[in-house]
Amino acid sequence: MFIPVTFAGWGIALPERRLTNADLEAQVDTTDEWIVSRSGIRERRVAGPDESTATLGIDAGMAAIKHAGLTPDDIDLLVLATATPEMVVPSTSSIVHDGIGLRCGAFDVNAACSGFAYGYVTAAALMNTGMYRSVLLIGAEALTRIIDPQDRATVVLFGDGAAACVLQRHDDTSPSAPGVLAWDLGCDGSAWSILNVPAGGTRLPASAETVANRGHYLKMEGQEVYKRAVRAVVGTVEKTLAQAGVTAADVDVFVPHQANIRIIEAAIKRFGFPTNKTVINLDRFGNTSSASIPLAMFEAADQGRIKPGDLVLIAGFGAGMTWASALIRWGAKA
Ligand code: UT7
Repeated sequence: MFIPVTFAGWGIALPERRLTNADLEAQVDTTDEWIVSRSGIRERRVAGPDESTATLGIDAGMAAIKHAGLTPDDIDLLVLATATPEMVVPSTSSIVHDGIGLRCGAFDVNAACSGFAYGYVTAAALMNTGMYRSVLLIGAEALTRIIDPQDRATVVLFGDGAAACVLQRHDDTSPSAPGVLAWDLGCDGSAWSILNVPAGGTRLPASAETVANRGHYLKMEGQEVYKRAVRAVVGTVEKTLAQAGVTAADVDVFVPHQANIRIIEAAIKRFGFPTNKTVINLDRFGNTSSASIPLAMFEAADQGRIKPGDLVLIAGFGAGMTWASALIRWGAKA
């Protein structure tokens, strides 16, 4: 099903502080060589004391509204994807709504690293009802706040950041019109335990014991996630391409979730996609979960790597396990 929505504007927000592999060598038992060869990551950004998921989301959201040439009053709905909420209650979108000065509905989407793609499809589907013209979609994360600084298996992978866009509905439904052509949303809930933060929710509320047991930090079975991630990306991409009636050769730019260069390379090899058409920025930002796809996509757009009319494929996977992909025909900025 084609939905005529375009990216009217976008913006990103990154903390100033860079955490390099050399910094991590001084923090845990690791080496730059191990991190680069196993993940491709060289540095990541870390939120400062006055920054959080909401402040990054507000900054990215305001930049996107400005880039679209709009004001907060023009936004009809806020959809915010995050796996690192500002608080348990209320939703992070409420706090971002306040910070930007919006006057519309707002809700969070938590599909971990698939969050931006889930949020994009949700926003597009709601816009397709005709009720919303301009939707602000934000992917924002402060992952370093839930990473154990002593766990070398995770501390090297994750970073903080946010990226936002204003999605706008239009009326052009001709074959070359910009919009979303096809998508796939998936989940294998039976694998929820391979990537989770055990404490702080209703199952295991915060207590002195959960803190002592480091239960508020992310736990990951890396190899299991890795294996499933490659399968998930390949599977979801195949479904979306088939649904759109195109092949990998028709795709101009692939923007995968930026988790690990080896996962990306294994996936594109399986569906025969060239590396030079694949956007990779994980070397500079690490895995920023919900922010990773939009950070990569909007950076590529700013660099002129994505042009009007291009077929852009996004694909994410993450805790849950969730996965999601969408095929987008890029449109000129409104
Ligand atoms: O958005 C989804 C989020 N998660 C992911 O995408 C993660 C997916 N998984 C991965 O990317 C990879 O599994 C990792 C990068 C996490 C790990 O790579 P790997 O090739 O699967 O390594 P491994 O877990 O099999 O560990 C190999 C060795 C182990 O030592 P032993 O048991 O062989 O002695 C680890 O203890 O590497 C050790 N190790 C490290 N060594 C140096 C684990 N982390 C580190 C480290 N530095 N940072």
